[in-house]
Amino acid sequence: MDFDTPINRRNTHCAKWDAMEDIYGVSREDGIAMWVADMEFQAPDCIRKAVTDMADHGVFGYFGDESDYRAAICWWMAERHGWTVDPAHIFTTHGLVNGTAMCLDAFTKPGDGVVLMTPVYHAFARVINASGRRVVECELANIDGRYEMDFDTWDAQMDGSERMLILCSPHNPGGRVWTRAELQAVAAFAKRHELILLSDEIHHDLTFPGQTHIPMTQIDGIADRLVMMTSATKTFNIAGSHGGNVIIADPDLRGRFAARMAALGMSPNSFGLFMTTAAYSPEGAAWVDALRLYLDENRRIFDAGVNTIPGVHSMQLESTYLAWVDFSGTGMSAADFTDRVQNDAQIAANHGPTFGKGGGQFLRFNIGAPRAQIEDAVSRLQKAFADLQ
Ligand SMILES: Cc1ncc(COP(=O)(O)O)c(C=O)c1O
Repeated sequence: MDFDTPINRRNTHCAKWDAMEDIYGVSREDGIAMWVADMEFQAPDCIRKAVTDMADHGVFGYFGDESDYRAAICWWMAERHGWTVDPAHIFTTHGLVNGTAMCLDAFTKPGDGVVLMTPVYHAFARVINASGRRVVECELANIDGRYEMDFDTWDAQMDGSERMLILCSPHNPGGRVWTRAELQAVAAFAKRHELILLSDEIHHDLTFPGQTHIPMTQIDGIADRLVMMTSATKTFNIAGSHGGNVIIADPDLRGRFAARMAALGMSPNSFGLFMTTAAYSPEGAAWVDALRLYLDENRRIFDAGVNTIPGVHSMQLESTYLAWVDFSGTGMSAADFTDRVQNDAQIAANHGPTFGKGGGQFLRFNIGAPRAQIEDAVSRLQKAFADLQ
């Protein structure tokens, strides 16, 4: 398992590197892409072998018999998360942005409110707005650089027009791994306001030492309003395979979702199914465990480096590889600090405001990359803000 060797992704139709000049004005040649949430690492050998075996076979016909695929998902969820999944409860969508859109379509109507705990993954708001539903932003409290839920404030915000709550667990950005007590409170909130709870757990495998992700299925009193979403794509860096799983235990919700899948003629891509089946294996598990340790050291180096810049603070991640950096202490406007990061440091990072309320003074940096790139990014940032020292 080699996470250190740089792999050139420029001019490979790679969104992260090949679109950064157009979007951020960061040089395609000399810039560093730290925005899109995919990593700079090759997928594990077991996945690459599955794809080369397919390519060698050379016949790319329709996929049939999902039993191995479903068994692999059930094995992974039981082994890694203590969650027993019934294979008949699994639906496969074209990734989880698509899964979110499908859930909005199946469980809400145009005009309905959909609750987000902001700042949160920007594509949620994008699909909610695009489908004619309304985003209801419930802002997380930033308590000494750590996000916490704020149910008293959120209860007062509800007006009865909300139908769904999307939970991001673990949370992107900020990396919180929600505790059992917090998840229990989410369940109570959903029940109080009669919301369907869509729990996006795409980051569940990438926890850091000392952190345990709790699947929402393990929380009491929520099963009849719960829809789970998971995927192998973040964990194994196979986002281009566009796979994702919506898992629904409640028969009524499952029936409604199945009806929309059928009406839209949805069926998965065979490459994604082969890759996920190969990923959810003991070999895949060993790769993920090595990856988590590598990412943990990346976050230590990145945080230690950027936190030396006066007024800059990188939130301590409990999971995943998306560093969430608060520039509010610099006293600069968002335009000013973003200009320095993009034009002086030549780094493309996600703009905080796209994540909703509470994100205004932040940038998000992807640290899923070889160590040398993280060190380069840190020294560019220190140089770009050297006058603050
Ligand atoms: C919370 C969350 N959900 C979904 C996605 C993307 O899902 P997909 O690529 O499967 O559409 C991301 C990507 O960063 C994410 O952070």
